[in-house]
Amino acid sequence: MTELLALRDAVRAHHRADEGTVLDCLMANYAPSPELRARIRARAVRVVEDVRAASGPTLMESFLGTYGLSSDEGLALMTLAEALLRVPDAETIDDLIEDKISPANWREHFGKSENTLVNASTFALSMTQSVLEGPSSKGPLDALRGAIKRLGEPVIRAAVRRAMKELGNQFVLGEDMDEALKRSRKWAAEGATFSYDMLGEAALTFPDADRYFASYMNAIRAIADAAKTDDMRTNPGLSIKLSALYPRYEMSKADECVPALADRVLELARAARDAKIGLNIDAEEAYRLGMSLDIIKLVMNDPTLAGWDGLGVVVQAFGRRASFVIDWLYKLAESLDRKIMVRLVKGAYWDSEIKRAQVDGVPDFPVFTSKAATDISYICCAAQLLRLTDRIYPQFATHNAHSVAAILEMAGNRDDFEFQRLHGMGEPLHNALLRNEKVRSRIYAPVGRHRELLAYLVRRLLENGANSSFVNQLANHAVPAEAIAADPFEQLEAARAEADAKIIRPAAIYAPSRVNSRGWDLANRADLNEFLESRGAFADHQWQAAPILAVEAGSGAAPREVFSPAQTDRQVGTVTDAGEAEARAAIAAARIWDAPVAERAAALTRAADLFEAHHGEIFALLAREAGKCAP
Ligand code: FAD
Ligand code: 2OP
Repeated sequence: MTELLALRDAVRAHHRADEGTVLDCLMANYAPSPELRARIRARAVRVVEDVRAASGPTLMESFLGTYGLSSDEGLALMTLAEALLRVPDAETIDDLIEDKISPANWREHFGKSENTLVNASTFALSMTQSVLEGPSSKGPLDALRGAIKRLGEPVIRAAVRRAMKELGNQFVLGEDMDEALKRSRKWAAEGATFSYDMLGEAALTFPDADRYFASYMNAIRAIADAAKTDDMRTNPGLSIKLSALYPRYEMSKADECVPALADRVLELARAARDAKIGLNIDAEEAYRLGMSLDIIKLVMNDPTLAGWDGLGVVVQAFGRRASFVIDWLYKLAESLDRKIMVRLVKGAYWDSEIKRAQVDGVPDFPVFTSKAATDISYICCAAQLLRLTDRIYPQFATHNAHSVAAILEMAGNRDDFEFQRLHGMGEPLHNALLRNEKVRSRIYAPVGRHRELLAYLVRRLLENGANSSFVNQLANHAVPAEAIAADPFEQLEAARAEADAKIIRPAAIYAPSRVNSRGWDLANRADLNEFLESRGAFADHQWQAAPILAVEAGSGAAPREVFSPAQTDRQVGTVTDAGEAEARAAIAAARIWDAPVAERAAALTRAADLFEAHHGEIFALLAREAGKCAP
């Protein structure tokens, strides 16, 4: 048990650990030898060539290949897709289309794609743009254009909406389980199995969470009928998101949400066990990882699940804690004499992890900052998992031929693991795996209606639209197979230098003009404890607030008592209000602050530093005076 606690401490300690140190440690323990790396690379090149020869890119891959996120047009489409799914009224949709379509340069892309449908969409987008741009000269043609614009708006709206829906359809297997199970037959016939995912996450209310729970339960019932064997590895399964099951799944509510979520997952796990299917817990934002491990521990410890090996946990290799989480999961399974499934992914929240750390002003990122580093972490964590198969069933979820080749080369003839892909992605690669390598491949298949798709769709568009992404490069035949299958270990040094130059660390986002204000990572126990302690010292403090003037004014107003609006019997202190005499004295004494800029800047910086130095007192005052909830 003490070993398990020590491993859990190691997970905590590496939340924002130095990237280089974590990578060096990973590589020292798990990196393939140079000879093995050469074999991996050669195999990956062959796989890329085979996959390219066997089939062209899908519509979505071609579309995102043409309109990647590095182009203005790609960004316009991305924001349009994101917004269209939630804008309720026609007028706003028209404004949005006009705003996003008009400024971009669609004509430049026309005829560039190898996919005729993408070219047709480009043509339609550039026509739309001509109409929306309005008259460029006066005359009958402009009148006609104006008429088309007026007549055409509902048509344009319908067409753009339809195009975005099509893009979304690529990633969803069905609107409900009936449809999804029917559509799954095509891939099942080719040897694939499924992990269904009921769309919906980040519940905001308890009724939302209840609805998602019911939809998971219904899905388990529906999947049970499709589970034909006693072997979970060949039966379909279900993937769930903890954020769907509780509206305040956050550190400040950990005392409530962790046990409540464990109860919900337990119920689902028992139903999954009875249905002979696996139940996977998806990995979400890094700040929730610690809570998710507490929940997993509670579920794994439950005696009613003894002997059941179907609980699955997702580990994100882009996280600096990934390898430590795997060690902890292994020890947990061992201490309970159980087995566990671990799905290794790279991680779908990279952009938001980087942005959140920058906004919060925390000391470092929880994720790696270069794609090569994440690829290396993935390969090293895969090697680690392959050493732990007495307790762990590894599920390697990737669409990247190099990562796949690495696993195949490292695994040799073993078959105690499976590959996984997302529905709508990586199909040719995984078909080749089923055909040529005779390994298992599972498809993560989202099920649900469009209104629940938004967050998932945005993650897929970001993932597929990034020009560093494997599927994006595979679709672009201008990128040679050797480049796509490049060895990340060889790329690391250059990638690190590029990341250092491009990815601004949280403290430096306002550099050179100023240092970012300090943030507190409330998901980190040590930070949270420091925060609570520094604030706790002012739990009963009585403040005396009064006007601060450069001159004596003295209206003689009496101080009045101030109480917390949330706990009306708890006094916060007293306030002496400024009266007319103070206001007049202040105006009379006011002078233009004409000190040199550097002096004024230094005074402001000193004030900011003092705010940070006295954070405990300020947090306590803000919470008590306004009656805010204590975290
Ligand atoms: P690649 O193109 O090789 O890798 C892309 C990934 O590299 C990005 O997603 C990101 O993780 C990483 N990356 C990109 N740029 C950088 C950079 N500058 N610095 C550091 N890293 C970078 N994701 C989750 O988060 N939680 C889940 O529960 C989850 N479940 C999944 C289940 C399945 C079956 C599958 C197939 C995927 C799942 N994913 C999940 C999504 C998964 O994280 C992405 O599909 C995956 O990252 C894509 O990796 P790849 O090897 O296919 O592609
Ligand atoms: C996501 O929802 C697939 O779990 C992953 O993005």
